[in-house]
Formats: sequence, C-alpha cells, structure tokens
Amino acid sequence: MIRYNPFNPQTPARPDFFVGREPEILEFEKNLSQTMHGSPMNMSISGNRGTGKTSILIKFENIAKNNNCLTLRISNYEGNLKNILELTNYISSNLKRELLSRRSVELKQKLEQEWTETLTPYIVWRESAPVKEQEDIVQDLLRDRLLKLWDEIKTEYCACVILFDEAESLERDNLVGALTFLREVFQRISTDSNYMVVLAGKLNFPDQMSESFSPLNRFFPCFRLKPFSKDEIRQYLVKKLDSVNVGIDEDAITYIAEKSEGHPYVLVAMSYLIFDSMNDDEDHISMDLIIRSRPKIKSRLAEDFFKPMYHPLTPKAKEIITLIAIKSPSQDFSFAQSLEYTHKSKNIMSPYIQELLRKGVIDKLERGKYQIFHSLFREFLIDNKNPR
Ligand SMILES: Nc1ncnc2c1ncn2[C@@H]1O[C@H](COP(=O)(O)OP(=O)(O)OP(=O)(O)O)[C@@H](O)[C@H]1O
Ligand SMILES: [Mg+2]
Repeated sequence: MIRYNPFNPQTPARPDFFVGREPEILEFEKNLSQTMHGSPMNMSISGNRGTGKTSILIKFENIAKNNNCLTLRISNYEGNLKNILELTNYISSNLKRELLSRRSVELKQKLEQEWTETLTPYIVWRESAPVKEQEDIVQDLLRDRLLKLWDEIKTEYCACVILFDEAESLERDNLVGALTFLREVFQRISTDSNYMVVLAGKLNFPDQMSESFSPLNRFFPCFRLKPFSKDEIRQYLVKKLDSVNVGIDEDAITYIAEKSEGHPYVLVAMSYLIFDSMNDDEDHISMDLIIRSRPKIKSRLAEDFFKPMYHPLTPKAKEIITLIAIKSPSQDFSFAQSLEYTHKSKNIMSPYIQELLRKGVIDKLERGKYQIFHSLFREFLIDNKNPR
C-alpha cells in the first residue's frame, strides 16, 4: 500500500496543523473585536511567494466565523476584472453569494429575487466623463450596496470580514488605485456598519516612503510574515509526523530548519520529498534518509518553485541576478556591490533592482542592502548558469 504523505506543499495549511503567526493572529483578534463593537479596524499581511499568506487568511476566516461574522475571501482578480466598476460588482456579487449560501432554501429563492432587482448595476458608465467623476459614482455605488447589505444582516451577524488574497494585483495595471478606492469606500461607511477588510499579498505600499502612500499604510497597517522559528518548525514536523506514527531525529529537524530557513513553502516541500523517499520498512526520519533525498529535493524545488520565479524576469534582470548570485560570497549584497559585480551604472541598475524586488526574487533589508530571496534559490541560479 502507498503510504499517506502528511505533507502537501500545494495546499494552504489546515487550521488544525497551523503553526506560529501569534502576533498577526493577536492583532486580527483585536481588530475583529473592535469591528464587532462598531469601531472597524483593518489590516494587511505582506509576504513573498509561499510565505503563508493564504494560510493565514484561512485562519482569520475561521476565527471570524467562530465569532459569528459573515466572511468573504476572494482572489484572482487579475485578468478577470477590467476596471474598478467590475471590482465593485465582483465584491458585491460574491458577498451576496456568500450570504445566500448560508440561508435556507426558501429564503434563498426569495432573496435571490430581491437581490437581483436591487443590485443590478444600472449606472451608466460614461467613457467621456472625467475619471474623478466616474470614480465617485462607483464609490457611491459600492458604499450604497455595502450599507444595504449590512442593514440586512446586522441582526444576524456581528461583523462582515472581507479578505482579499493576492492583493498585489489590486495595485497593478487596469486596477491601479483600487486599494485607495477600497480605503475610501470602507472608511466612509465605517461609522454606520461593521465591515473589516484584510489584504494579503506581495504588497508594495508599506515600502513606499512617499506621502501619497502613507494613508494606505495607516488604514491597512501592514504585518510582514517572518520565517518560522526552529521551535515552530519542530512543532509543525512533529505534529504532522505524529499523525502517521513516524518519528524524527533532532539532527534531522535541525537540518530541515537550517536548509529551509523557515520559509513555509520550502519547509513543506522539503518535508514532502523527504517523506516520499522513505522506504516501506522505515518509520523514522533520520539524517541518513535526508542525505538520500537531497538530489530529489534540489531538482524538485528547482522545477516547482524556483523556475516559476525565475522565468517571468526580463532577460536583463535574469542576467543581473545570476551574476550577483555567482559573484556575491553570500545571499546578501549591497547596491554598490551589484554595480561592481555587473559593471553597470547606477541609473541602469536601479530599475532592475526594482523589478527583482517587485517579482519577489530579492528582499530589501535596509536602504541599499538586499538579500537574494532564499539561499537555495541562489544555489539554483548558480547551477542554472553552469549546468552540470
Ligand atoms: N502557519 C502555517 N502553519 C503550517 N503550515 C503553513 C503555515 N503557513 C504556510 N504553511 C504551508 O506553507 C505552504 C505555503 O503556504 P501558502 O500557500 O499559504 O503561502 P502563500 O504565501 O499564500 O503562497 P503564494 O505566494 O504562492 O500564494 C503551504 O504548503 C502551507 O501548508
Ligand atoms: Mg497564496
């Protein structure tokens, strides 16, 4: 019989195997309580690929549900939504659906009827109207719908929590300005309704120093997801392995903690592959097993995680990050070093650093100091350049 592997890097954490994130959860609970008492507070979660953003939103959603709140978790706007009016319709129709899914069948039919009557957008989108005017109309529309909805549910629910996953796409392309739009809508209705908004994504606004961005940061105070600590990693591994009666040695835990650097996706993917390399007669994870599974870990992480991060870079950015990986003695490098390694001028380099940051391939440590996203990614870049 094929042994069941308790690790699955492709799905977000199940709430019963969720570890860590205490500060974020505490903050969420505090803000939720404020919101339920009629004084709404919002927040945002920022993190690179695979750091656990979706997992924590699911956790928040669970907490909110347990506190008798209506919740809506949405993502996938990219490519689907052409403008802010479509975003508005998307939010209201999803809220409607969420509410209806919790109601009895008869009530559902009756409401469905009413909803379609009251909520069909009848506004005329005049392409010729000034942008500001269009935005004001759409803002009014969404506010109006949200207030109506709140009026209808307030005796039944304590608050309504809307969780936007992959919120970085609300800062991009045809949705530029969507976050400011949401802030304006939810700020104005906060005195008359209990809506809470949580954003999660590779958010840029917390890094922007410019004045125009700080209102966003104040309205959606940002928490950046940190790597798991060794204790959290141990807790995670032991709990998962216990569920299938498999043990693990302390030096194996140490190795996994060090190599994964506490990055959630890397941790789960490594654990999955190590478990997958176990022979039928084994019931224990030892260093020996880990050493055996190393080549597989390397190649599968490259295929499943690193290549998809590397691929979307522009050709010049690929060249630059590869040179940095090869020439820099560690994961960290300064802006000055990047110029030295690549023989580029400041003006040429700056936009590429921005691209690498935006695409999550490097992180900013402080002014002029950067870090390649993961040391295994650095190894990948080096191997990729000199295939063996
Ligand atoms: N707090 C946690 N406890 C246990 N496992 C976690 C936790 N957070 C994340 N994971 C695991 O890490 C992996 C990545 O998590 P998740 O999908 O939530 O990350 P993400 O930031 O949403 O990724 P992406 O950037 O691809 O959207 C998943 O396998 C998930 O099970
Ligand atoms: Mg996600």
